Amino acid sequence: MKNRIIAILLFCTVGTQAQVQETRMEQTIDSLLALMTLEEKVAMCHAQSKFSSPGVPRLGIPELWMADGPHGVRAEISWDSWNYAGWTSDSITAFPALTCLAATFNPGLSGEYGFALGEEARYRKKDVLLGPGINIYRTPLSGRNFEYMGEDPHLASMMVVPYIEGVQRNGVAACLKHFALNNQEQWRFFIDVDLSDRALHEIYLPAYKAAVQKGGLWSMMSAYNRFRGQYCSQNDLLLTRILKREWRFDGVVISDWSAVHDTREAALNGLDIEMGTGTDGLTASTKNAYDYYYLAKPFREMIRSGDIAESVVDEKVRRILRLMLRTTMNPGRPLGRMNNEEHLSVARNVAREGIVLLKNENGFFPLDPERKMTIAVIGENATRSMTAGGGSSELKAKHEISPLEGVRKRFRNATIIHAPGYASGPPAYGRELPSPLDADSLRRAAVQAAAAADVVLFIGGLNKNYRQDCEAGDRRDLALPFGQDDLLKELTGASENIGVVLISGNAVSMPWLSRVRGVMQAWYLGSEAGRALADVISGDVNPSGKLPFTFPARLEDSPAHVYGERSYPGKDGRQVYQEGIFVGYRWYDTRKITPLFAFGHGLSYTSFTISDLRTDKPSYAAGETIIVTCSVRNSGDRAGAEVVQVYAGKPGSPVERAVKELKAFRKTYLEPGEKRTVTLTIDTNDLAWYDESIPGWNLEPGAYSLYAGNASDAVPERVTITIAE
Ligand code: BGC
Repeated sequence: MKNRIIAILLFCTVGTQAQVQETRMEQTIDSLLALMTLEEKVAMCHAQSKFSSPGVPRLGIPELWMADGPHGVRAEISWDSWNYAGWTSDSITAFPALTCLAATFNPGLSGEYGFALGEEARYRKKDVLLGPGINIYRTPLSGRNFEYMGEDPHLASMMVVPYIEGVQRNGVAACLKHFALNNQEQWRFFIDVDLSDRALHEIYLPAYKAAVQKGGLWSMMSAYNRFRGQYCSQNDLLLTRILKREWRFDGVVISDWSAVHDTREAALNGLDIEMGTGTDGLTASTKNAYDYYYLAKPFREMIRSGDIAESVVDEKVRRILRLMLRTTMNPGRPLGRMNNEEHLSVARNVAREGIVLLKNENGFFPLDPERKMTIAVIGENATRSMTAGGGSSELKAKHEISPLEGVRKRFRNATIIHAPGYASGPPAYGRELPSPLDADSLRRAAVQAAAAADVVLFIGGLNKNYRQDCEAGDRRDLALPFGQDDLLKELTGASENIGVVLISGNAVSMPWLSRVRGVMQAWYLGSEAGRALADVISGDVNPSGKLPFTFPARLEDSPAHVYGERSYPGKDGRQVYQEGIFVGYRWYDTRKITPLFAFGHGLSYTSFTISDLRTDKPSYAAGETIIVTCSVRNSGDRAGAEVVQVYAGKPGSPVERAVKELKAFRKTYLEPGEKRTVTLTIDTNDLAWYDESIPGWNLEPGAYSLYAGNASDAVPERVTITIAE
């Protein structure tokens, strides 16, 4: 009892302290606002350079400096152009792409990632880090899927919150992007998206909401595209009604670069800072270019003439000052660090925990690092830099260990031969450049190398070139580019011992799947790519990554592509997400379409048995927490980690629902033979569906099925619970 009283008292003091701090912060803002002229206030609402917005020098209010995100801090860009500024102090640690982070299914690791990245941003004197991104993986063609966290709103929510908290512990704001519905790159600047309110709230918004309400997000980047006729940077429903009113977001909305189109709409519908607008300032140092931004001179004039109330700009500046008091005006924030061992080790841990073993026939992987053998490493991705390219997420890594280097270092007893086998062109933004190399001779050399080797490691995939996992363009199809499918076909004729390592941020088709012995999905792995890959290939690390999105067998199976052009990529500038809530595995499960590899799938070098699924009670009232337990046993002979995944469904519901949806997961590490009880929790409110007739969340009473397993297509355990009337 005494302890409880102390705990309550402690809670109250902490609670009050936070309130006092908050009140003080608002008082500081009030006093600063009172000193500022209209010109000074308006100036803070738009860029002064490519990546900064001005402060008020007269009052000591600092500038705000931003940098991309989301996998490392981007190199310095020139004041007025997109050219790199040519600094020599801006090489950083490249962390694995967010798809890889999501594939770890390890929220703790996401927190470490965010913190390490935040430290680097802080050391580089950035106040706002432009990331992470969580646009839902709707189609495997979308060029920026590699920068996001997969197809499931629960997974994305669980992974994004610790990342944000980690970044912000450094006094650096995370800027979550791209809010919202920027689910393709094709026509991203203008495509007008529509979808049901239900799909909006159940699929596309939950991770943003979690970031705001659970992660305490300080800034949000609005998307390029339109939603129901209004650009997202000036969208009343998204920015004002949902984000700021309903979710009570107290941070700053920053536009994507050149995503603003109108002064009045931007001013009144929730945008706070306008960045990157395509005035002359975009490409040339034209005098006063930034004055012509929508939220610059035109905004000031409208306030002066009484057309827009001054309280509108005050509200924006209040938010910006709040952001500054949390970041650049916070004297207590740490100093940051860069390129240290700890950051490299976070990068390596994420990389090796995120690699997904998709297929492993007769234990092809791991390869014995002690064995004397000849390994033919074939494929351009074995040596290509994967921190370059891709658009704004491109990085200047202090070092990057290629897969070939990693394999060479770890397999010292083996003879390693490398043949690229195919060639793509150099990275070029918005263009596809052909390779000058002769494809036939590259192919012949690779086939010869394969025939002469004991083992073939094919390291290919996509490569962050335009239309191959890159901003501003979608892929054209699901196939591997640059003739890799044909090459693999020939290689399988020359060797029966082929393992494929796919470096990509997207699903690809695999017509050669049955003829290769192993397949690993290895993402874009950052600075430590080669080392992490060698860790897993050699068995030093047992793979435990799980797919954060479905690999469809054929593009036509994919929900975004079933309903024709209007649904993807859109027609006459408009697009309707006709699959509604049936995104990713929700679609494949419900429609009984077998994918190539299911959401949540990922093999291990050991085997696990999941059993004894139980809940603490048979029946729950709304608002209660369901405590779920199950046993996991490592039934093989190697230590390893398994991700227990709990899905919920409501069989026989009169409401159209997915067969099941992910509601909880937990990664657990087990020694050989070890058995553990894993406990997970589900908030009953998370079983509700979005009922447009309310409009709001509706928790149906009655029986629900909970399923547990280690992939969305492997859920052997099932129990029934009831939600009381
Ligand atoms: C991208 C953003 C990025 C910004 C600044 C835009 O084109 O969509 O994600 O943060 O550029 O580089």
